[in-house]
Amino acid sequence: MAKMYEIAVTAQLPGRALEMLRERFNVRVHSGPTMLEAEDVAGWAEGADALITLTANPVTSLVMDQCSGLRVIANCAVGFDNIDCAEARRQGIWVTNTPDVLTEATADLTWALILGVTRRIVEADTFLRAGSFKGWQLDLMTGAGLQGRTLGIIGFGRIGRAVARRAPAFGMRVMATPSSWPTEAFEDVIFADVETLVSSSDVLSIHCPLNDHTRGMLDEGRLRRMRRGAFLINTARGPVIDEAALVQVLEDGHLGGVGLDVFAQEPEVHAGLLGRKDAVLLPHIGSATREARSEMAELAARNVIAVLAGEEPPSPVVRGR
Ligand code: GLV
Repeated sequence: MAKMYEIAVTAQLPGRALEMLRERFNVRVHSGPTMLEAEDVAGWAEGADALITLTANPVTSLVMDQCSGLRVIANCAVGFDNIDCAEARRQGIWVTNTPDVLTEATADLTWALILGVTRRIVEADTFLRAGSFKGWQLDLMTGAGLQGRTLGIIGFGRIGRAVARRAPAFGMRVMATPSSWPTEAFEDVIFADVETLVSSSDVLSIHCPLNDHTRGMLDEGRLRRMRRGAFLINTARGPVIDEAALVQVLEDGHLGGVGLDVFAQEPEVHAGLLGRKDAVLLPHIGSATREARSEMAELAARNVIAVLAGEEPPSPVVRGR
């Protein structure tokens, strides 16, 4: 009798994903906290042929050594910095991610943060709920206009491009870091290096992956070289910004504000950010529409199904054996 493959999933999945897997395989779904240590992931995935993970699950060499039957690690996220891809490559394990299906949702949330921080939406809502709204005033909660301003996009991949496509609706000029992908469709975008974007943007938005080149890229020097009163948005990964330096630069009044969906040590948030009115802080919900999250889970399931059928998965990051 053919072997029934074992699938370990680190969290409940939305949409049809679990049904798709259960029709074919034995599936175990972890319940309880989603923030797992590598030891927990290893314990959960032991004996499994495939592992479906979230960004909150480190998949280190320890996991791969302990779970020697793993043929595929399917991350339910577009980012895969939680997975030791070099080790997966060495061990011949496929790694897959979930690009495209979350692009538009994340770009929308980026704009929600841009508008939220420049127009002081959260602060104004809190003000009203506190009973402080006493009538219309010309100078009440005035924010920064976007028309004619420059949006700098660090990381001109899928999400960076989707953010750029929305910019003309707000009258913004777009600058972006160079991309190895075709850019003909973006003839109005000005391409420049990070340093130029930092010093030329009124709104600087981060859309690069987290890796050895981008960790700490927005360090204190670069934060201080941003335009006085500029806004910084991050829907990519927290460690791209030096968070302690960011708090200091905000304290000094150099920036107009920040909109952050991601943090250096999630789920911790730097205490210096929590009390600030000029910081809009979200719990890593960039892709959190019901549609996108279901499609992410279903794509992760399709990746697993393809690998275990000996086929090319739809969205490979590391090719396995
Ligand atoms: C979420 O952060 C993702 O990478 O999809």
